[in-house]
Amino acid sequence: MDSLKNKIAFVTGAAMGIGRATAMLLAEKGAKVMVTDLNETEGKATTRMINDSGGYATFYKLDVARKEDIVKICNNIFTEEGGLDLAVNNAGIGGSMKPLHEIPSEKWENMLSVCLSGVFYCMQEELKYMLPRGGGRIVNVASLAGLNGVGGGSSYAAAKHGVVGLTKSAALEYGAYNVRVNSVCPGFVQTAILDNVPAKILDYSTNVRVPMKRIGSVEEVAKAIVWLLSDESSYVNGHQLLLDGGFNAG
Ligand SMILES: NC(=O)c1ccc[n+]([C@@H]2O[C@H](COP(=O)([O-])OP(=O)(O)OC[C@H]3O[C@@H](n4cnc5c(N)ncnc54)[C@H](O)[C@@H]3O)[C@@H](O)[C@H]2O)c1
Repeated sequence: MDSLKNKIAFVTGAAMGIGRATAMLLAEKGAKVMVTDLNETEGKATTRMINDSGGYATFYKLDVARKEDIVKICNNIFTEEGGLDLAVNNAGIGGSMKPLHEIPSEKWENMLSVCLSGVFYCMQEELKYMLPRGGGRIVNVASLAGLNGVGGGSSYAAAKHGVVGLTKSAALEYGAYNVRVNSVCPGFVQTAILDNVPAKILDYSTNVRVPMKRIGSVEEVAKAIVWLLSDESSYVNGHQLLLDGGFNAG
């Protein structure tokens, strides 16, 4: 994957989980990584791990729920780092499992701000920098919940369906400008976000629904994201790549 060498990459939610694993793999492939997150301590830890192992990373604090911050910080950092080639819009939250009629409006609005508007506003800034450079690659981290409904998780599913819609629409709009836009749709992956999922649901999903009888790892998702960012996937655009161990196959 030499196509990633010296590329300037931006990853949201890179302090932990899938974002951290992706930032680390991108750096291993030679990309210069802008690690961004709300969590400064863990974000700096990701950056340190990359720099200590010979990669290049810089940490920037960014709350994707705040449009003004996205506009200001993205413009500052894309200018400072000399542009933007690759973007991974990954930051997300899980939220508690509740029937739709019991979800307080502030929880609904927060879910949409982080998981959907955060992706939209980041894409706006990313595209402003990619288009004058003659292209770029964007991967949005959606979910299996972006393709299926989730009983007890309607706000999360709505936000992730929105991410899939943004991904497909942007692929249509920017394909002619050498910007490829894809998403990954993980099933259950071992990260802190699963803390909100009741053990009963996790156990049923893993042992009954997933034919491989296990949940995924962050490294497995990171490999798929990095492949979508590389030239190895040069004709893949507007795709939603399922990483679910076969959950959705039947
Ligand atoms: N783990 C799973 O099973 C799973 C499945 C499908 C999709 N996803 C998606 O993967 C993405 C990454 O989640 P994860 O599983 O690695 O969880 P995680 O909790 O380990 O990581 C999420 C990261 O996002 C950051 N974050 C949260 N709110 C933020 C905000 N407002 N601004 C900036 N950063 C913020 C957190 O600090 C954290 O570092 C999310 O979009 C999630 O919806 C996860």
